[in-house]
Amino acid sequence: MPNTSESFRMMKAEIIQLPRFEDPRGNLSFIEELKHIPFKIERTYWIYDVPGGQVRGGHAFKEQQELIVALSGSFDVVVDDGKEKQLFSLNRSYYGLYIPAGLWRQMENFSTNSLALVLSSTKYHATDYIYDYAEFLNFRGL
Ligand code: TYD
Repeated sequence: MPNTSESFRMMKAEIIQLPRFEDPRGNLSFIEELKHIPFKIERTYWIYDVPGGQVRGGHAFKEQQELIVALSGSFDVVVDDGKEKQLFSLNRSYYGLYIPAGLWRQMENFSTNSLALVLSSTKYHATDYIYDYAEFLNFRGL
């Protein structure tokens, strides 16, 4: 679990294991900004009621860093740095996928009743989105 300034310099997408308190009454996990994730949380949103076969995302953010958690059910996140694609399958609420700024990402293969929580380092700015793949490659200097 990253908790030093050194480990916060993550420039690639990676799974972060979140604290987990197992309890016969039910399990509990939590996230503190700048402790379990390398950014301050400016916004939280969630994606739910995704019909089978639908895809969300499919763009990059210039500035936004994020942590994506499958609070319920499962889905895949494909992260693309312009050269290589990585597929992360999320299906546990105590794992989060950290995605730094500047990567193309797509969410797909949502299970029925899945719930995707996204913690974002920025407020919503439509101008932070890159929707055009050629523009994304240019942004990456590729
Ligand atoms: P968007 O991020 O484009 O969803 P996806 O990448 O999964 O297709 O968001 C869809 C719409 O929701 C977008 O047009 C604007 C609105 N929106 C907000 O107003 N605030 C937010 O924080 C987010 C994430 C989206």
